[in-house]
Amino acid sequence: MQASQLKPDVPVGLVIFGATGDLTARKLVPALYQLALADQLPDDLHIIGFARREWSDDDFRDEMSAAVKEHSRSQPVDDEVLQHLLGCMQYVVGDFNNQDAYARLDALLDELKADNRLFYLATPPRAFPVIIDAIGEAKLAHCPRGWTRVVIEKPYGHDLASAQELDEVAHQVFEEEQIYRIDHYLGKETVQNILVFRFANGIFEPLWNRRYIDSVQITMAETIGVGDRAGYYEDAGVIRDIFQNHLLQLLALTAMEAPVAFNAHAVRDEKVKVLKALHPLTGAQAIQQTVRAQYAAGEVDGEDLPGYLELDDVATDSTTETLMAAELYIDNWRWAGVPFFLRSGKRLARRVTEIAVQYKQVPLSLFGAKNMAGEAPNRLVLNIQPEEGITLDFGAKVPGPDNAIQGVQMDFSYAEAFGAGTPEAYERLLMDCMNGDATLFTRSDEVQAAWAFVDGITAAWQQQGAQQLPQYACGSWGPKEMDAFIQDAGFSWRNPA
Ligand code: BG6
Repeated sequence: MQASQLKPDVPVGLVIFGATGDLTARKLVPALYQLALADQLPDDLHIIGFARREWSDDDFRDEMSAAVKEHSRSQPVDDEVLQHLLGCMQYVVGDFNNQDAYARLDALLDELKADNRLFYLATPPRAFPVIIDAIGEAKLAHCPRGWTRVVIEKPYGHDLASAQELDEVAHQVFEEEQIYRIDHYLGKETVQNILVFRFANGIFEPLWNRRYIDSVQITMAETIGVGDRAGYYEDAGVIRDIFQNHLLQLLALTAMEAPVAFNAHAVRDEKVKVLKALHPLTGAQAIQQTVRAQYAAGEVDGEDLPGYLELDDVATDSTTETLMAAELYIDNWRWAGVPFFLRSGKRLARRVTEIAVQYKQVPLSLFGAKNMAGEAPNRLVLNIQPEEGITLDFGAKVPGPDNAIQGVQMDFSYAEAFGAGTPEAYERLLMDCMNGDATLFTRSDEVQAAWAFVDGITAAWQQQGAQQLPQYACGSWGPKEMDAFIQDAGFSWRNPA
């Protein structure tokens, strides 16, 4: 997590596979524009779109111009910067397994003298192995005159076995050091701040353990539905789409030990240890310590929305979960016995991602139980999005003759402290891979450890047999089973208003 805001001073060829897709238009090219605006891109940069669609260079530039205008976080768009960026773009037409297209790509990279190459796989996952093989066959995986790296989007596999297969394919062509597996949550400023907050401040770390912490809730709630990705989502569900990656990454950052240094190896070593220390959830225990549900028709922000089962590409008897929660334990000295409740779902009441650390109650109430500031007043909340900041709840004496206590809050807001305009995750991640800093990307053993844990849960669900999931109305915080789940464990959900 070193500041790699250095502008790379070598010629770079960024090849985007799947250049006609949604990710390129919504995230990658707007992030490149933002970096251009901040003058952080290499002076000698070539952006080469690679896809099947029969576009010319100019078609590609026109499409990307429209994408920047629509999706850039800095409006209005600076035309001079945009024109310069578009001037760096070229397009190669080809099927992902067509060696002629790779020969054309090779010739173009040579002609441009783009000796440092970043291959970005922004395609559906089934194309990952095809592209990696083809890059290998075309002898494009190593350039003697510079570095070559490959960025692989999520989902990285569908379970442990398929992630291992993908790793095998990738390792036949690339060294592990060349592989950058994206989890875009790690590029978010507030997610990076978890480590700064924990390890650059002396006061919190001594309290960051089982002795003082009662429980932790990590919530990633979305108001959006599955959109036009129902085909993918049917097979994934929230467990593969979000729990295996974003949620377990947030857990790892929250629970890890201090790394020996701030570099890719040391940080990832510590994250892997957390994932490996997760108490396995399998069989009956997995059933007891997880809960699943599916959204039914309802209303979000005044809009009437259909239920999941009513969507095209969703089986009418689908048992894919759109909401899940799990109660996890980490078997190590720091965390033994502390429950971590992880929860994520679509079409919930509010878009919010947060980590809420609940501290234990005082050992003895001096002010009378009814005067406690809530049942457990000390809670630290790391607000990842959308209101980026940190709050600390505690009890304060209400002015007056009796010792009435009320819960109050200390608040830190990113926007107030640093102004608006926080960089998007992809800006940081693109810079980091051009600078060779893999700290914010996931390593092979880390991804495999996450899948190994998730496989235990999915196997238990499968064993249980297909059964209709509890339904919740769009715009709610889930069905009653969700509340019962955490109440049975002796806690309650924090549902931010
Ligand atoms: C993606 C998931 O990885 O993250 C989506 O596939 C989800 O289903 C998205 O909506 C959420 O990302 P963010 O940055 O909007 O919280």
